[in-house]
This record gives sequence, structure tokens and C-alpha cells, in this order.
Amino acid sequence: MKPDLLLKELYQKNTEELLGKNIKLCGWIRSARHQKTFSFLALNDGSVFHPFQVVIDDSLTDYQDLVSKLNTGCSVCVEGELVQSPGKGQSIEMKATNVTLLGACPEDYPLQKKRHSFEFLRSIAHLRPRTNTQGSVARVRSRLSFAAHRYLQERNFLYLQSPIITASDCEGAGELFQVTTLPLTNIPTTDDNKIDFKQDFFGKATYLTVSGQLNAESYACGLSKTYTFGPTFRAENSNTSRHIAEFWMIEPEVAFNDLSDNIDLAEDYLKYLINDILENCPEDLEFFDKFIEKGLIDRLQKIKDSSFERLSYTKAIDLLLNSKKSFQYEVKWGCDLQSEHERYIAEEVFKKPVVLTDYPKEIKAFYMRDNDDGKTVAAMDVLVPRIGELIGGSQREERLDVLEEKIKQTGMPVENYSWYMDLRKYGSVVHSGFGIGFERLVQFVTGIENIRDAIAFPRAPKTAEF
Ligand code: 4AD
Ligand code: MG
Repeated sequence: MKPDLLLKELYQKNTEELLGKNIKLCGWIRSARHQKTFSFLALNDGSVFHPFQVVIDDSLTDYQDLVSKLNTGCSVCVEGELVQSPGKGQSIEMKATNVTLLGACPEDYPLQKKRHSFEFLRSIAHLRPRTNTQGSVARVRSRLSFAAHRYLQERNFLYLQSPIITASDCEGAGELFQVTTLPLTNIPTTDDNKIDFKQDFFGKATYLTVSGQLNAESYACGLSKTYTFGPTFRAENSNTSRHIAEFWMIEPEVAFNDLSDNIDLAEDYLKYLINDILENCPEDLEFFDKFIEKGLIDRLQKIKDSSFERLSYTKAIDLLLNSKKSFQYEVKWGCDLQSEHERYIAEEVFKKPVVLTDYPKEIKAFYMRDNDDGKTVAAMDVLVPRIGELIGGSQREERLDVLEEKIKQTGMPVENYSWYMDLRKYGSVVHSGFGIGFERLVQFVTGIENIRDAIAFPRAPKTAEF
């Protein structure tokens, strides 16, 4: 049954090697042009952007009957000889000698050959991998994931699979999805009328993780260079084109790295990833450049060759205060930057990635290292044009007494973090790390406007289909 090779493998061979060969291919018909005595099929198996041209003629038995069923969306297996193509757009095509219709496709197939809105395609997320855009997004995303691992593995980072279910709130922002087996219609309570989590599956309140960082720190503080790359969950009720409730995050964590080493790593890593996609997904990028974001390839090329701007939060606030642009959200020292501020800095002021550092401690997570000024922490956010915040990270607080005080200030139960504090009690080291939002990275390299199109089956408020 199976094809001799995928289209990607076919396109990797040179024409001379292929001409005259008989091969078998399988895939879906993207479009078909039927004439009286011959037909052209654009076949794609999704392994590459460009479909492959298959020509059939009436020397095939039951030609008329066969082609009447060969329409957009149906699946076929074709066998035949590879010949030089007289048409433009391809150097070779197949002259089919055998065509098997695997699965017919009725006329109500929603992906007829025309442009569909992204919104509509989201409502048929199970079929959208057959579209040009989602096919390209899926291939770039897969390659990005491979390159993300590769960069770190080749530099001796250890891949840690951190837990999905956790009792700690890494970001301390309370945006947690509860995990429980308590009966929701009859929740057990304690004598003082609180939920009795002792009766819950884990004997305590547990959640889906918002970040693998705390566990990554444990491994970095023993195995030096580590990373996690997994799904993370946030119950943020924000319906923006940059937020989803389930997203993937790459989180490198490195012992003995200070903030500046951390920024160097983030910059080098991002450039490597961009370069990898430029080299390995040229056809998908050309498609995005033409139909999604004009000038995309040029933008990526420039970023790869640029050096990222480094700037303190305080200087960024000055820039915003002195700008002529009017913002929806008020700017003052101490405020959390909104996407409009981040994009203004990266897109309009510097026109390249900007690393902002040393944020006010009140707006950042408890684990970030206090700076000597008593007001700021050793935080770093990488802001990029079009997206805003792509990476968030910091140097970690390695001093036990300072960390304990910071946890207390959040009001979270200190006993949940006793293991985390042990990392400071026993052989503490300076260490740093960051998290790259993987879907935002996909948006960044493809130009895709809405994050819900950068992941196969998006999860967002009131959205958990498929
Ligand atoms: O800045 P964040 O919250 O940092 C952390 O979670 C740290 N624990 C990372 C670390 O230091 N190891 O999130 C990191 C990145 C953001 O910069 C953003 O790209 C992405 O994760 N992100 C989201 N992406 C999609 N939807 C959401 N709701 C996101 N929230 C954060
Ligand atoms: Mg952040």
C-alpha cells in the first residue's frame, strides 16, 4: 500500500536520477483539471509546500468514470512513470498508469479551492492541516522544535521532562487550572468550612503547571546546563492574539550564568533558530512572505545579523514618557508594560529585538534576584517587533534568606517551597534562565497574526474543541 517515497524525498533527488523511473505516490488532490482525454491532478502529501503534477489520460480503463470521482479533497494512490514536464512550474511530472481512489470526497468538503478566513479555518481545525497556510505552519513549527532541541543538545544542555501536575505556582500570578478528583457536586470541607484537599487525589491542592522553571532549577543546581520544553497552562482570561491557555515553552536553566550570560544565550539561541528556518524551510517562508507578511524573509535576515538592543526598564520608561505617541495605557515607573509599549519600543524605536532588564520588583515573580538598589530585580524580557514579549527570564535569587522573605511577601504557603529553598540551603549557586513562548516564536518566524493559528488545536477561553 504505502508510497515509495514522500514528495519531500522526491524533490530532494535530482531530475536525471528520477526521469524514466516508475514510482508510487499517495496523497490528497488539491485541485484537478479534467479535459476530454486527459486530466491534471495537483497531488500533495503535505510533506512539502508544492504539490506534484500527475497526468492521466484515457488510455486508463474507465477513464471517464474515474476522473468524475477525482475531485479536490479526495485521497489517491498513483503509480506511473516520471517524465519531463512541458508545463511551467515543475521540471518533472508523473504520467500515471494506475490510479486508485482511496477515499472519495463529497462536494460539501469545506476546503474547496478558494481562500478561506483564518477564523473559518479555526472552526475546522481538524481539516485545516490540508491548507497551504496550516501545512506551512505545521512544517515550520516541527522544524523549529527540532532546531530548539538541537541547539541545546549540541551545547550539552540536559533535557529535563518537568512535571505537568504541580502544587506550586511558579509565576505567583494565580492563573492556575486546578487539578482535582474531588466530587464537584459534593466537595468535602474541613471543620472551619474550607475545602478539604486532604481528601483530594494528591492530598493537597494541585494545578496544571504554568512553567517548568522551578524543577529545571533543581536540575541545573546539580547538572549545570538543563532545559525543559513542554506544555504549560495559564487560566488568564485574555482574548488577545498573543495569549492562549495551553502553550509550549522552551526553558533553558543554567548554573553559574548571571543575567548578562543569560541574555547572551537568549540572543544567540534566537538567531540560531531564525537561521535554521531560513535554511531549512525556504518554500514555506516564501509563501508566508508573499501571502502573510510582506518582507518577512528580509526581516528575519536582518534580525539574524543584528545585535539586540539592551536597555534597562527605567530607560525604557523614559523613552515612552518622552515619546510623542499616545498610548491607551498610562506609563509611569512601576507600571507593567503593555503590549502597545513593548511593540513601540521594539518596532518603532529600535526596529529590532530589544532586551529590557532590571524591572521593578513589585511587577515580577518572587524567584528573581533582588538588585542592590532595593527597587529592581535582575529580570530580562526580550521584546520583538510585531509580537512584543517573546522571552521572559531572569537571574534567580540564590540567597536563602532573601528568597524566603520574597516568598513570604507573596502570601503563598512557604512550606510548598521548602524543596525549592533547599537548593539555596545546600551548595547554592548563581544561576539564570528564561522561557521562550513557543507559539509566539512560531508567530515571529512565520508572520502569522493570531496565536491561535500557530498551534494545531488552540485552547483559549470558551475554546476547547477538537
Ligand atoms: O514571562 P513568563 O511568564 O516567564 C516564565 O514563565 C518563566 N518561568 C520562564 C523562565 O524564566 N524559565 O513566560 C515566558 C514566555 C513569555 O515571554 C511568552 O512568550 C510566553 O511564555 N507566554 C505565553 N504565550 C502564549 N500564551 C500565554 N498565555 C503566555 N504567557 C506567557
Ligand atoms: Mg513575562
